[in-house]
Amino acid sequence: MKNPSPIPLQHPEYRYPPSRNPYSEKLKQAPGVVLSDNETEARRGNWKNERAESLLHVEIGCNAGHVVTEWAARDPKDLFIGIDWKFKAIYRAFEKALKKKLSNLHLLRAHADRLPFMFGKGEIDRLYLFFPDPWPKKSQLKNRYFTEAKLRMIAELMPVGGLFEIKTDHPGYFEWMKEHAARTADLWEVLALTHDLHSGHPNPGQLTYPEVTCFEKLFIKDGIKIHRMVLKRRSA
Ligand SMILES: C[S@@+](CC[C@H](N)C(=O)[O-])C[C@H]1O[C@@H](n2cnc3c(N)ncnc32)[C@H](O)[C@@H]1O
Repeated sequence: MKNPSPIPLQHPEYRYPPSRNPYSEKLKQAPGVVLSDNETEARRGNWKNERAESLLHVEIGCNAGHVVTEWAARDPKDLFIGIDWKFKAIYRAFEKALKKKLSNLHLLRAHADRLPFMFGKGEIDRLYLFFPDPWPKKSQLKNRYFTEAKLRMIAELMPVGGLFEIKTDHPGYFEWMKEHAARTADLWEVLALTHDLHSGHPNPGQLTYPEVTCFEKLFIKDGIKIHRMVLKRRSA
């Protein structure tokens, strides 16, 4: 996504540029369920207002919502939010939510770097990042989402005991993740870590949503090992 605005994406006053993507208009059909751009920041700190007992689950990079819509259908007492920056992917996720008649799900067309403007302190109980782009070239490493700085920022948005689950197919990115997690050991405890998530399964190719994601299914088919880590927010 190009940013022609002179205000950087990480600045509180950043405004998303208008889009000519045809799905941008389509997303306006579902106000409340689907929120786009700066609208996604209007409920910061208030997502659970009417659901004080619910846990708030947030999936970053939910794509067409295969996993988050399934979770929401299985667990109506909790609140789920899927975030992706692709208009069409969020629209596809919305279609699934409609079919399943979900009332405990929001879909946000937004940039993951805006997370601290979308959520208040300690608001996210469970966070998920599945198969983020690995940006494998040396010149691209700066684009990786999972960094020490992000882990410090995310820690502010989660309560003590909050869980952050990450999966990747990319061994190099996973090593990077482990290093960056180790640098934030003051904030995060590594609760689980595996380099071959499905090694104990007799036929991982049979796994379906939400146990596996859309990309994960393809990796499993190609015999690629899945790496997984779960981080737990420590007390200060
Ligand atoms: C490799 S795909 C993985 C999709 C899904 N999590 C899965 O496992 O099937 C990465 C997803 O993250 C989204 N994405 C990448 N960077 C993003 C960002 N900065 N903000 C929001 N979404 C992003 C992409 O649009 C894409 O849907």
